[in-house]
Amino acid sequence: MPLRAAAATCLTMAGIGCVATSAAAQELAAGPGSDLVARACSNCHSIDNVLQVRKTRADWDTTVHLMVNYGMQMSDGDMKIAIDYLSSYYGFQARPPSK
Ligand code: HEC
Repeated sequence: MPLRAAAATCLTMAGIGCVATSAAAQELAAGPGSDLVARACSNCHSIDNVLQVRKTRADWDTTVHLMVNYGMQMSDGDMKIAIDYLSSYYGFQARPPSK
């Protein structure tokens, strides 16, 4: 019975497996715009979609506009806040062109 087996594993791993799983439930880094992003970006998919990726500012800009194409409702001002937030907390610096 797979369900029972899963529960047994969970008990065996108590303190490791199960706690680790709930600790892994991710939350956005607190910062200006995190409330907005938490609210607006978890409507259609898990916020994990957002937390698992790192993008340059240009790519976040593209992504947020893409979400608008998918049907997201967000004002231009909020989009700027979201892009600022995402690129500061979930961005990475594009490597400067080597000379
Ligand atoms: C109207 C629905 C909707 C909203 C709201 C929404 N998304 Fe999405 N998002 C999608 C769909 C549809 C996909 C593509 C299918 C998938 O990967 O789940 C997607 C995929 C993604 C992906 C994975 C693909 C990629 O380009 O890396 C990221 C990251 C993402 N969304 C970020 C965001 C962020 C950030 C916000 C808030 C600004 C947001 N989403 C709000 C619908 C939405």
